[in-house]
This record gives sequence, structure tokens and C-alpha cells, in this order.
Amino acid sequence: MPTYKNIIESIDENILTITINRPDKLNALNSLTLLELKKAIENAYDDHLVQGIIITGAGKKSFVAGADIAEFTELTELNGRKFAEKGQEIFALIEHCLKPVIAVVNGYALGGGCELAMACHIRIATENTFFGQPEVSLGILPAYGGTQRLTSLVGRGLALEMMLTGEMIDAQKALQAGLVNHVMPGKEEAMLKAKEIMSKIFKNAPLAVGMVINCVDSAISKTEDGFQVEANSFANCCKTSDFREGTSAFLEKRKPDFKGE
Ligand code: COA
Repeated sequence: MPTYKNIIESIDENILTITINRPDKLNALNSLTLLELKKAIENAYDDHLVQGIIITGAGKKSFVAGADIAEFTELTELNGRKFAEKGQEIFALIEHCLKPVIAVVNGYALGGGCELAMACHIRIATENTFFGQPEVSLGILPAYGGTQRLTSLVGRGLALEMMLTGEMIDAQKALQAGLVNHVMPGKEEAMLKAKEIMSKIFKNAPLAVGMVINCVDSAISKTEDGFQVEANSFANCCKTSDFREGTSAFLEKRKPDFKGE
């Protein structure tokens, strides 16, 4: 496993846990942290030992309190666009990963932190979590995909209220709004919940799991006809030996032994 400065990686039962580790800065995403996150995700794409990924934050207070504001002094029109596109690219890498990615959101998820959580496939928050997109208070706007993903997750009204006022919502409100899947008392419980969900996903055919993620992505990206992507993916599933195995196992009243092929 590569060594990183601002993230910690660990692997257990085929789950890679990536912990953003700058607790003294509430895990703010500076450029090195983003680069390391990108490398870790890229490696996970190709690592056969990794079947799923959990992303969380170090410390008790924060998941990620946003992009690192200390680096904002460098931003101009030209490199501002690059800054946004680089973040969008890394978060798209997470969103398009065909292995499930779960965010364990343990505290502040603000700005780029809220956007990072939203790029993950499933979100589990702890009771002390607050989500927010406070960028307008700094004179900018959410630019790591936040304007798009927040609207798609919670709807136009709440998304606009959050992004225009910059105010935070707590974990219970996020649950009501569909921004998170579950709220757990603390980090330990949230990690256990994430692992429980992963183990349920791991029982299913990996190629079909990846194709579901891809189909759902196409519902959001609008660059492809999602119904066509779905029909093509279904056809592709029908070609796999896991499909034969899944149906045979059901008919023979036994557990399937999926091979991911
Ligand atoms: N970028 C850089 N540093 C950050 C940061 C960010 N997004 N968020 C927090 N920090 C740093 C603080 O500067 C402080 O560093 P210091 O101890 O060297 O001064 C440290 O993290 C602790 O933060 P602090 O503000 O003292 O904690 P708090 O409990 O009083 O407040 C927040 C917590 C999250 C409400 C507050 O830190 C905050 O508003 N952060 C910025 C959130 C934001 O606007 N994010 C979007 C950026 S686009």
C-alpha cells in the first residue's frame, strides 16, 4: 500500500477504508489531500482485493470542512476553472467507481466535504453531522459538482435554500431530505452499518452491482439515454456466467457462488 501524508488507508474483509487525515484543519481538502484521494481511488479501481470503499474523516469533529480556504488566495479566473474541473474529475471518479463507495460522515460535511459525501453512492451520518454549502459566504459557489448533485439528491427547493443561505442542516434533517441513507449515534456504529451494507452488496453478482451504479449515474448525468443504458446493461448481464449461477442457485435452492464474470 502506498504511503500518504494526508490520508490513511486500511483494508479489511475486502473493504478499503480511506480516512481523510488533517483533523487539526477539520480535514479540509488541500491540493495534496485531493491528489492523494485521487491516487487511492484510482488504485482501488484496479485492486482485486478491494470490493468496496468507505470514505470517512479523522477525529471526532469533522468529516471534511470543505476545500482548504488557505489555498484560495491563489485563485484567478483561469486557475479557478481548473480548480473546479480538477475537483469535479476526482469526485466523478468516485461516483463512477463500479465498486460501492460509502461515505461515513462523522461531523462537519461542508462545501467540498458535502460534495465529497454526495459523490459517494451511499451516505451514513453520525448524529453530530452538519451538512452545508457555505461557499456564497466566501463569494464563490459549490464547484465540485455540488450544484448538480445536491439538487438531484434533495430537490431544487432545499438545494437552493442551502446553497443561497449557506446555512447548515443537521443529520436528522438530512435524513428527512434524502441526503443521507442512515443516521447512527456515533462513528463506531456508522462504520458497522457501512460494513453491514457492504457485506449485503458483496453477496450479489459484482458485475450486476457495477452495472446498477452505471445506470444510476446515467440518470444523473443526462449525457446518455438512461433507459438505453439500462437495456444494454441488462443484455450484458444476460451474457455473464454469474447470471446463470444466480438463477441456477435460486432454482436449486442454494446460495450462489458468484465469480464476477
Ligand atoms: N479550510 C481551511 N481551514 C479550515 C477549514 C477550511 N475549509 N475549515 C476549518 N479550518 C481550520 C480552521 O482555520 C482552524 O485552523 P487553525 O486552528 O489553524 O486556526 C481549524 O480548522 C479549526 O477550525 P475552527 O474554525 O477553529 O473550528 P470551529 O469549531 O470554531 O468551527 C467550522 C468549525 C466548520 C464551523 C468552521 O471551521 C468553518 O466555518 N470552516 C469553513 C467551512 C467552509 O466555509 N467550507 C467551505 C469551503 S469552500
